[in-house]
Amino acid sequence: MSAPNKSYDPVEVEALKPEEIERMRDEALAAFASAGDLDALREAKTAHMGDRSPLALANREIGALPPQAKAEAGKRVGQARGAVNKAFGSRTVELEAERDERVLVEEAVDVTLSYDRLPAGARHPLTTLMDRIADIFTAMGYEVAEGPEVEAEWFNFDALNFTPDHPARQMQDTFFVQGPEGTEGDESGVVLRTHTSPVQARSLLERKPPVYIVCPGRVYRTDELDATHTPVFHQVELLAVDEGLTMADLKGTMDHMVQELFGEGTTTRLRPHFFPFTEPSAEMDMQCYVCRGASVGNPDRPCRTCSSEGWIELGGCGMVNPKVLTACGVDPEKYSGFAFGFGIERMLMFRHNVEDMRDMVEGDVRFTRPFGSEI
Ligand code: PHE
Repeated sequence: MSAPNKSYDPVEVEALKPEEIERMRDEALAAFASAGDLDALREAKTAHMGDRSPLALANREIGALPPQAKAEAGKRVGQARGAVNKAFGSRTVELEAERDERVLVEEAVDVTLSYDRLPAGARHPLTTLMDRIADIFTAMGYEVAEGPEVEAEWFNFDALNFTPDHPARQMQDTFFVQGPEGTEGDESGVVLRTHTSPVQARSLLERKPPVYIVCPGRVYRTDELDATHTPVFHQVELLAVDEGLTMADLKGTMDHMVQELFGEGTTTRLRPHFFPFTEPSAEMDMQCYVCRGASVGNPDRPCRTCSSEGWIELGGCGMVNPKVLTACGVDPEKYSGFAFGFGIERMLMFRHNVEDMRDMVEGDVRFTRPFGSEI
C-alpha cells in the first residue's frame, strides 16, 4: 500500500484554479457570442457544455477534493456553468429569432403572383368540340364509328356513286398515295380520304340495319394553308339507316344538334344541292345564334358571325342514295337513310370567333388554353 501523497494539494488542481475557470467560462461565452447561426451554436454547446468540455471535466475534479475545498471549488465551477448556461440560452433565443425572421423573408409567398405556375395543359378545342358533338349523338343511341385516313379510292369515291370522271377525284383536290404495287398518282387507287363519308359505306358493310353512327375524323384536301383553308381538317359524319326514315327525321335530328350546341330555339333550313351519294341532297344552314336574323337588312346592327346573312352554313346532307345502299348490300326497298357531314374547323371559327384557321393548326397553347380544359 502506498502512503498518501503529502505533497498533493487538491486546491491547486490546475483545472480548478479560479483564473482557469474564468478562462473556460469566457471562452464559452465568446464562442456562443460568435456563433453565427443555430448550427454553429450547437457545435459551440458541445465544445463548452458537453460531457468532455473543460468545465464538465473541471466539475468532475471536484469530487476528488477534500471536503473543505469542495464547497469553494463547487461554487466557482457552478457559477461558471450557470453563466455559460444562461449565455447559451439567450444566444439561442437571439439566433432563433434571427432564423425566424430570415425564414419569413426567404419563404414569403407573393399572393399576387399567378397560382398557375404549372399549367394543367388543355385539350385542343377541335377535340373537345368533336367529343361534344359525338356525345349529343351517342345520347340518342348512335354509335361512334371510325375508318382509316389512308383510304381505298373505292370507299372514298366509287361506293359513294362518284363517277370515274367526277372532278372531285382529280389531283387538285385529292392526295393520292403510292399504291401497293408501286402505282402512283391518280392510278394508285389509294387516297387520303377527302371526307368522312367513306365511313358510311364501311359501316353499312360491317353492320346490319338499323345503323346509327356518328364519325368524327380527320380528312385531307390539297388546299393551301391560309386563314380559311387547311389541307388537313376535321369533319363529323352522321349516318342513319332504318325502315321509314325521311328527310323530316334528318331535319329533326339536326335541329336537336344545333339546339344542344347553340341554344334552345335555334332552327335550321335546307337548301337544294348535289352530292353523288345522297338523293335528294341539300346544304344545311343554321340560324345565326348571335343575331338570330336581326342583322339582315339592318345596317345599324351588323353581325360579324353570319356577315349579316342571318344564316350560317353548316354542311352537306341528304337521303342516302339507293345506289349507295345497294353497293353496300342494303335493300333500298326496305330501308332508307339520311346522312350529314360538316367541318369542325369552320364550326369552331363561328362558334368561338376564331378568325384565322392557322391558329388551330400551329399548336400554340396560348390559343388552346382559353378554351378551358372542358372534357
Ligand atoms: N361528304 C360531304 C363533304 O365533304 C358532306 C356530306 C356528307 C354530304 C353526308 C352529304 C351527306 O362535302
